[in-house]
Amino acid sequence: MNDAPIGVFDSGVGGLTVVRAIMSRLPHESIIYFGDNARGPYGPRPIQEVRDFALEISGFLEDLGVKIIVIACNSATSAGLLEVQRRCRVPVLGVVEPGARGAVQATRNRRIGVIGTVVTIRSRAYLRAIRALDAGATVISRACPTLVDFVERGEVEGPRVEAEVAKYLSPLKKRGVDTLVLGCTHYPLLRGVIGRFMGQEVRLISSDEEVAREVEENLRRRGYLRASDTPPNYRFMCSGDVGQAVSLGRFFLGPEVEEVERVELPLASSGSFPKGHLSEVSCP
Ligand code: DGL
Repeated sequence: MNDAPIGVFDSGVGGLTVVRAIMSRLPHESIIYFGDNARGPYGPRPIQEVRDFALEISGFLEDLGVKIIVIACNSATSAGLLEVQRRCRVPVLGVVEPGARGAVQATRNRRIGVIGTVVTIRSRAYLRAIRALDAGATVISRACPTLVDFVERGEVEGPRVEAEVAKYLSPLKKRGVDTLVLGCTHYPLLRGVIGRFMGQEVRLISSDEEVAREVEENLRRRGYLRASDTPPNYRFMCSGDVGQAVSLGRFFLGPEVEEVERVELPLASSGSFPKGHLSEVSCP
């Protein structure tokens, strides 16, 4: 048994889709969520910079005593999962591999579409993860840079977002994908619009539930699941606008987001992740 919280982070509110799945699967677990809304979205940023952010936030969460870290952001997972795993003392899970696995299991015609941010698509992390599971699968990827902004504004329905989704997804639809990976943790919030455009026959895959299952499996294996005698504690933090984080957090997750603490950047991190070392991290 281990009472420590689960640490989850994203560039903004998107990772709350993963928090929601963890809360429903593991209702007794405490969670610390960090949304880097001062520097998000990560999608348009260079890979090395996103990797440094992921290292910095993971070190910060580790110093707060979390027992496992979930990088609830495809951009940060694609850019830095391996480095973060190498540097952390606690296990670190990302969101790309679970999504790839879900897609390979769901497809019947082996034509898989992947949508994500520029950094995620450019990293080819999904392509590699899908091909590792099915070398013959056809993967059609598309970066959808503006969709995160719609979600961060809370605009998840309506003609403007419908037009944007149609613009990005038309080529994938034409190429006959039967499975579409929502390769950004913001996109499940656009599931309605995306699903209507792609049609019922196309399966939409997001990694939230699969990640929650992996968290449970990891904690159970280590005997780290929390007992149910006292209620869990939820702590929400952000690096930028608190008002925006509270209202969007409540809108997307619910009343669990009672308050959001603002954390100053750069993050105060202890000896395990000294700042000067971040730029020295080598790429795998
Ligand atoms: N939710 C994010 C992801 O999964 C981040 C979007 C962004 O920061 O650009 O990629």
